[in-house]
Amino acid sequence: MREEEIKASVEYFEILLREQLARQDTMETAAEKKDYSEAAKITVGIVGGDGIGPIIVREAKRVLSTLLKEETEQGKIILKDIEGLTLENRLKLGRSVPDDVLDEIKKCDVLLKGPTTTPKGGTLESANVTLRRELDLYANVRPVSVPSENIDWIFFRENTEGEYALGSRGIEIPEKLSVDFKVTTDAGTRRISKAAFDYARSNGKTELCIVTKANILKKTDGMFSRIAHEVAEDYPEIHVEDYYVDITAANLVNTAVRSKFQVFLLPNLYGDIVTDEAAQIQGGVGTAGSANIGDRYAMFEAIHGSAPRKIEAGEGEYSNPSSILKAAEMLLRHIGYTDKADRLKEALFICGETEKKVVITGHRDGASCTEFTDYLLEKL
Ligand code: IPM
Ligand code: MG
Repeated sequence: MREEEIKASVEYFEILLREQLARQDTMETAAEKKDYSEAAKITVGIVGGDGIGPIIVREAKRVLSTLLKEETEQGKIILKDIEGLTLENRLKLGRSVPDDVLDEIKKCDVLLKGPTTTPKGGTLESANVTLRRELDLYANVRPVSVPSENIDWIFFRENTEGEYALGSRGIEIPEKLSVDFKVTTDAGTRRISKAAFDYARSNGKTELCIVTKANILKKTDGMFSRIAHEVAEDYPEIHVEDYYVDITAANLVNTAVRSKFQVFLLPNLYGDIVTDEAAQIQGGVGTAGSANIGDRYAMFEAIHGSAPRKIEAGEGEYSNPSSILKAAEMLLRHIGYTDKADRLKEALFICGETEKKVVITGHRDGASCTEFTDYLLEKL
């Protein structure tokens, strides 16, 4: 019995290896980047998601509709609701992203997406992970700033590889042994590294920190660090440092050193963890936006989850829309509407940092998501 299980696992592993190699080879022939300044029409897909998702996305859509009133009237921008990316529907169909939903999504250029719930265990993949893979959204870009402390960080998290690439496809010898895989490819590391260094260069950033645990994960993280350094050679004006992820986590809470960091480049899972930590430093995971960027598509979302407990407690309407609004700001910037993005950024700053006339606590004692958005719309 055991011998058979081992044999079956080895055969399965061969399939995974071949698939991942094929993916690396396709990446080498890079797709052409979509240029929005040339586009006559941009379709923005609006996806509610689960839990508090539809509530915060509804408010973010209101803000986008206001800012893009003229463009939507002229048909230059289409805000298109996409239904069906709900947990009930996904469980019913046994698909992390139902085919018809994916087809609709692929007809869009960019997406504003609410959080989606992922059941723990089982085999249903996270909708996020599926979308990031299907749309090849390889750069997860997450800015975090605390102006009063001079903190202005931006995280470039690799978004399609690492522990996530095969996270739902590990191997098990039932009740005895479980093995998951971590995948790093040459092309995958090169493109996220380039994205981070390009950003640093075009935004006048001089410090870039490569985060790995290459002392322990010698193959995958070793390769990530080596390739990131190779890419760095084309950007001699940028000072590069290597940090292990554990000390990075410590440095972010070390007020004596943290403001010196500017751009972070990290593999997928470390990026996931460290960006939640960073968001918390900024004021909570409810406050940070997240962009998932590929060459053809881009998806903008809140950094936090769907908060099912909030819905159970009947407090969904008291959710903080700041994170999804920051995502909306990043979306506007991505499609070339820099001035509108700046207006939204400024309004968010006034409402959330300086004036703070309408305060969200996440509970009934605070303002509702709609009240906060009304306030923000006044300040736009
Ligand atoms: C994030 C989230 C996702 C992730 C989940 C929802 C799959 O935590 O975007 O950081 O792990 O990447
Ligand atoms: Mg996360």
